[in-house]
Amino acid sequence: MRNTLDSVFFFLLDLCILRHVSLGEPYNPQFNISFQNKTSVSKSDFPDLKVLTVNLSHNLITTLSSDTFTNVILVKSLDLSYNLINQPPGDLLLPFIQLVCLQISNNRLQRLPVEFLQNQSALEELDLSHNSLNSIPAKFFHSNLSALRVVNLSWNNFVIYQPWPLLLWNSVNFDLSYNKISTTANNLGQKQFSNQYGSDIKVNLQFNNFTQWNDSFYEDLFGADENVAEKRILLIPDIRNNNWTCDCNIYKFVSSIHNSFFLYARMEALKVKCYNPPHLRDKRVFYDVALNEFVCNLTSIDNCLVQDIPNMNTVYVDCRSRELTTMPKSLPLPDGRKLSLNLCDNSIQSLDNVEYADKIESLNLSNNALKFIDGNALRKMINVIKELDLRKNSLKYLPKEIYVLPYEKTYVEGNPLSCDCNMTWMSDWVNLAPGYRDKSLECADANGNHHLVKEVTENLPNCTNVTLIAACVSLGILLVIIISIVITAKRCPSETKVILFKIFRIHPRDKYVGDSNDHDMDNVAYISYDATDPQVEKKTNCSSQTEI
Ligand SMILES: *[C@@H]1O[C@H](CO)[C@@H](O)[C@H](O)[C@H]1NC(C)=O
Ligand SMILES: *[C@@H]1O[C@H](CO)[C@@H](O)[C@H](O)[C@H]1NC(C)=O
Ligand SMILES: *[C@@H]1O[C@H](CO)[C@@H](O)[C@H](O)[C@H]1NC(C)=O
Ligand SMILES: *[C@@H]1O[C@H](CO)[C@@H](O)[C@H](O)[C@H]1NC(C)=O
Ligand SMILES: *[C@@H]1O[C@H](CO)[C@@H](O)[C@H](O)[C@H]1NC(C)=O
Ligand SMILES: *[C@@H]1O[C@H](CO)[C@@H](O)[C@H](O)[C@H]1NC(C)=O
Ligand SMILES: *[C@@H]1O[C@H](CO)[C@@H](O)[C@H](O)[C@H]1NC(C)=O
Ligand SMILES: *[C@@H]1O[C@H](CO)[C@@H](O)[C@H](O)[C@H]1NC(C)=O
Ligand SMILES: *[C@@H]1O[C@H](CO)[C@@H](O)[C@H](O)[C@H]1NC(C)=O
Ligand SMILES: *[C@@H]1O[C@H](CO)[C@@H](O)[C@H](O)[C@H]1NC(C)=O
Ligand SMILES: *[C@@H]1O[C@H](CO)[C@@H](O)[C@H](O)[C@H]1NC(C)=O
Ligand SMILES: *[C@@H]1O[C@H](CO)[C@@H](O)[C@H](O)[C@H]1NC(C)=O
Repeated sequence: MRNTLDSVFFFLLDLCILRHVSLGEPYNPQFNISFQNKTSVSKSDFPDLKVLTVNLSHNLITTLSSDTFTNVILVKSLDLSYNLINQPPGDLLLPFIQLVCLQISNNRLQRLPVEFLQNQSALEELDLSHNSLNSIPAKFFHSNLSALRVVNLSWNNFVIYQPWPLLLWNSVNFDLSYNKISTTANNLGQKQFSNQYGSDIKVNLQFNNFTQWNDSFYEDLFGADENVAEKRILLIPDIRNNNWTCDCNIYKFVSSIHNSFFLYARMEALKVKCYNPPHLRDKRVFYDVALNEFVCNLTSIDNCLVQDIPNMNTVYVDCRSRELTTMPKSLPLPDGRKLSLNLCDNSIQSLDNVEYADKIESLNLSNNALKFIDGNALRKMINVIKELDLRKNSLKYLPKEIYVLPYEKTYVEGNPLSCDCNMTWMSDWVNLAPGYRDKSLECADANGNHHLVKEVTENLPNCTNVTLIAACVSLGILLVIIISIVITAKRCPSETKVILFKIFRIHPRDKYVGDSNDHDMDNVAYISYDATDPQVEKKTNCSSQTEI
């Protein structure tokens, strides 16, 4: 009964040990030499070889020799916290056969020996917090540590997160908070982690130095295989309380979470907040920010705002009122992006054939000084352009290539358009637009009279359409030539055949094949004549033929 009460007391004292202390232990299993200002301990300091807990915390120990614990192999809990240990010997723990709880927090650890946790398959808790660690040997954690539940590496000097927890094949709580981690990498010699054991791995990366999301974090941690996307999301570490920048770099990650049911499954860890840009500060990345708000300001050109908006697959260029006289020569375009350009209220004189013309989806050139539009530019835009605003410019003529856009998507009002013979195509262009589009576009003729463009036809004064006539005449001549050739061929098929063979060496429509068995013959000859033709003796003519 008494022992039972004692055990209950221990339970309250130290949960970690109790799990393994059997209720009938006949001696005091604790060995407490904390707060003794000890600078070293040795094997001989342990009088009772059957102790289960050793507490050496709050001393001044700097080094421990390999054989310190060789006589106390039953220890389940070892507390070395609050000392000055810099690097423990690699075989320090080897004597222990059932170590469950190890605390070395608040020391000066800088390096851990790779074999330190070899054979510690009973270890459940490892506390290395408040040290100066900034790396862990690749094989330090391994799959034999199958009982490990808590690993505390908080308050150290880590700058890179490697997928250490995934080397343990079990559910583990991995605390890496309060480090200086800003990036991930994977040098652990294992390329792909899929958490196929379905372990519940919690990684705490709060209060680190992350700012910019990098999509290669995923690949560093879980390999490049897209198929494990769902599992990756399950393994997303807790990245709250970092100064995240909510820009185009984090867009892909956020949108993949938005498309996943886990958006609602792991609410707590997903309440990540933005820190930058200032207008998004303290908004929750996955819940409060619209996908269109994840943008990046690209390098500025001509003082313009150049913004990448991945959710619209667009780069938006705002050059309003920048006193430009030409269109920007070149623009930065991340792969596959289209361009939306607002160049209004400048003094641009021509729409040039710029190198990015084939990427322009929307172009606003209203209120400029446009006099000329390069038809080649319009031809280059044909596949992508959706909207073109040319209002309030000085355009007299539009190139016919403007047909790449329907009239309802093109705005040309407010230009001194000229009603010229070469502009008569515009009436069709305007009339083809659907009814809702205002069609009162006007042009002025040579006498200054205004006409509705949709009514301007060939009947304009002084309009002799020379090109049309020339085209008709040459077309007529070509037709006559073709007809005469066809008639001749029809009337004189054999001659045509001979001519065709002479020129092109071909035998079209062979009707008369020479006797192929008669190899004495070198040539096959056909002679044609018409016995009924009275002129047949005078000259060679053709109308029907006979084979000899
Ligand atoms: C261990 O010993 C120290 C110093 O004698 C004492 O202050 C402390 O309470 C002891 N701890 C336990 C758990 O008994
Ligand atoms: C340890 O050192 C501190 C400061 O020197 C002193 O106050 C304390 O009494 C010492 N403790 C023991 C157990 O000697
Ligand atoms: C070791 O002793 C210190 C001081 O008495 C105490 O705070 C700590 O909890 C003990 N460690 C364990 C594992 O009991
Ligand atoms: C894991 O355990 C097996 C068998 O107990 C042993 O052979 C192996 O060396 C251990 N691996 C490590 C990394 O300790
Ligand atoms: C670790 O344990 C295995 C068996 O579990 C044993 O063969 C090996 O010698 C041990 N390693 C050390 C260094 O004690
Ligand atoms: C890790 O250690 C720190 C500081 O000692 C503590 O605040 C934190 O709760 C520990 N984490 C876990 C998971 O126990
Ligand atoms: C944390 O990040 C900031 C900004 O990215 C950087 O200036 C600082 O040096 C970083 N701190 C550490 C300890 O890496
Ligand atoms: C993302 O990480 C990869 C590799 O870790 C690195 O090469 C790349 O420069 C990083 N990208 C950014 C924008 O930091
Ligand atoms: C975030 O930035 C603020 C101000 O620059 C700084 O005080 C704070 O420590 C940073 N927080 C983290 C988690 O890096
Ligand atoms: C981009 O630049 C604009 C204008 O200079 C500014 O208002 C905005 O905050 C910047 N956005 C980002 C994400 O830096
Ligand atoms: C072009 O810019 C002007 C001035 O900002 C604006 O009024 C007009 O609606 C824009 N055009 C289009 C098609 O959005
Ligand atoms: C139309 O003809 C005028 C001269 O009459 C010329 O200046 C203009 O460039 C021509 N426009 C087009 C689009 O061919």
